[in-house]
Amino acid sequence: MGKVTKLKLAVLISGGGSNLQAIIDACNAPDYPAEIVLVFSNQLDAGGLERGRRAGIRSEAISHKGYPGGREAYDNAVSTLIEESGADLVVLAGYLRLVSESFVTRWKDKLINIHPSLLPSFKGLGVHQAALDAGVKFAGCTVHYVVPEVDSGPIIAQAVVPVLPGDDAGKLAQRILKQEHRIYPQVIRWIAEGRVSVDAKGIVTVADAPKADFAEINPALEPG
Ligand code: GRF
Repeated sequence: MGKVTKLKLAVLISGGGSNLQAIIDACNAPDYPAEIVLVFSNQLDAGGLERGRRAGIRSEAISHKGYPGGREAYDNAVSTLIEESGADLVVLAGYLRLVSESFVTRWKDKLINIHPSLLPSFKGLGVHQAALDAGVKFAGCTVHYVVPEVDSGPIIAQAVVPVLPGDDAGKLAQRILKQEHRIYPQVIRWIAEGRVSVDAKGIVTVADAPKADFAEINPALEPG
């Protein structure tokens, strides 16, 4: 058999990188159709950089603080790094920095994000506490294509978790994070397999996704 070409990923982080780790672990399976070619952080001390290096992946950081030329110039430098890496898809995984419109345009349809709420509810930061304060009974996470407006853009996948009596923001965040680690590698697989399309209204369809894919990412839902 010939060598299968894998989708090349640049994963952008700011912190501990548990989502990055989930993607690294998925990529370690020989039949997984993607590989990480670059880990990038805007925080020099992001724990995720070590995860990348340990996995033998090129892992770079440039601090955004005091970067000459501001956000646009910074994002151009990041884009150059990504281009040099040969990445096909840019994966924001806890990248706690607003990206400029030109960055979004440069990586249009090749830029995805994970957000720890059921969008379009609870955009921005502090979402776990906001969900508790709103009294919702279900929470979850969303993987979506990135558009200039923050935490918007076509929704590719979501997973739902219950809000339980006695939850605080930390407990809820942990429950949601577990689902993030399942759906992000799953979505990357779908994209790598060329099964994800977006219609003119921004509605995403995943072609030929076995029901099991959905059942697995959302145990609260019986597909059918
Ligand atoms: C995740 O909850 C992600 O959804 C949010 O930031 C957190 C990052 O966690 N944007 P980690 O760095 O992947 O552990």
